[in-house]
Amino acid sequence: MSSPSTVVPIARPTLPPVEELQQRLAHILSGTELTNGAEVARFEGEAAEVLEAPHCVAVSSCTAGLMLVERCLSLRGAAVTPSFTFFATAHSLLWNGLRPVLADCDPTTFQIDPNSVRRVMTRGCSAIVGVHLFGCPAPIDELEKLAREAGVALIFDGAHALGARWQGESVAGRGDATVYSLSPTKQMTCGEGGLITTRHAELARDLRKARNYGKGEAYDCDLLGLNARMTEIQAAIARASLARLEAAIARRRYLADLYAKRLRDVPGVRLQRIPSAAVSSHKDFGVLVERGVDRDQLMRDLAADGIETRAYFDPPLHRQKLYRPYYRPQEEALRTTDAVSRHILCIPIHGAVTDEDAARIADRITELVGAQIARSMRTPMPLTAIPA
Ligand SMILES: Cc1ncc(COP(=O)(O)O)c(C=O)c1O
Repeated sequence: MSSPSTVVPIARPTLPPVEELQQRLAHILSGTELTNGAEVARFEGEAAEVLEAPHCVAVSSCTAGLMLVERCLSLRGAAVTPSFTFFATAHSLLWNGLRPVLADCDPTTFQIDPNSVRRVMTRGCSAIVGVHLFGCPAPIDELEKLAREAGVALIFDGAHALGARWQGESVAGRGDATVYSLSPTKQMTCGEGGLITTRHAELARDLRKARNYGKGEAYDCDLLGLNARMTEIQAAIARASLARLEAAIARRRYLADLYAKRLRDVPGVRLQRIPSAAVSSHKDFGVLVERGVDRDQLMRDLAADGIETRAYFDPPLHRQKLYRPYYRPQEEALRTTDAVSRHILCIPIHGAVTDEDAARIADRITELVGAQIARSMRTPMPLTAIPA
């Protein structure tokens, strides 16, 4: 088969023009302050304003940010987290010696299911680590209630959630902390980076120390930290990208609406449900194909047409070698996670996707799914209607 002449990539970083950065970079490179300096402080101040966050701490990645938040909150024992997520969410727990307790997801929003959290929450749990999946907020109110009742910390992995809102407010002030990612597939990037928001002044102070090895005023450590600093060059790129965040999200929202209009009534296809309280920042656009449609064949056919897709997150954590020992099917079978991860694919949604690309992608999915259903000569069965 001949390869397509143009490919729509699954992700493409949106970066500020070089000319805009030249002066700032020249200033940094002619100085002596290369990391964790004035530019990082400026970025934190601007990000706090844009994200409506009481405190904002820049770090080297979301993974490092999660590790440091969990360390600074002195978590012990276990923490509940969804199995349907990227592995970095749970890696941060293992790095802190915490046992991941895996919760199931909701079949319509794909978010962590609060009923499952309630079921798996054991006495040894000291935290819930929720994930704002694909840029749509997790069920924040229910998770806050669960965390309050159990007296545990609530952390959000907001890797996907830059710009996401819940009940009319930015998600940045909810829970004990939210950790965003600035890696290249995100709504804004500076190469690599992370951003922690929190309403607790004391936690923000500890995090500033922890990202710098744990070093305080004196050369006498009392906190186990990391080198998780952001460089001045990253901060300069991040500041210029931050100024474009709203436009980047608006474009993603426009594409998401375009996809939704064309795909929402297609037999065999289901889209992520966005709750009425939520404003998604559309890091990803997830399409669920129902039983009777071969997801992997669909991905291969789309690839042959120059449309890149990803099966986020397949396999889910409890099916991966590192996390299998933490899977307790007799306690929580994670059936919805299994079903969703086997049937989901993410399609391109970013600044380089044109209106024509999006229309073509939606139309090809409609045709290919339709052809599969016609071939199998049966009506697709909704995922929720049959037990896995
Ligand atoms: C849900 C989730 N959490 C954490 C991360 C890790 O982010 P980073 O690469 O900034 O460490 C990612 C990366 O995409 C992610 O998807």
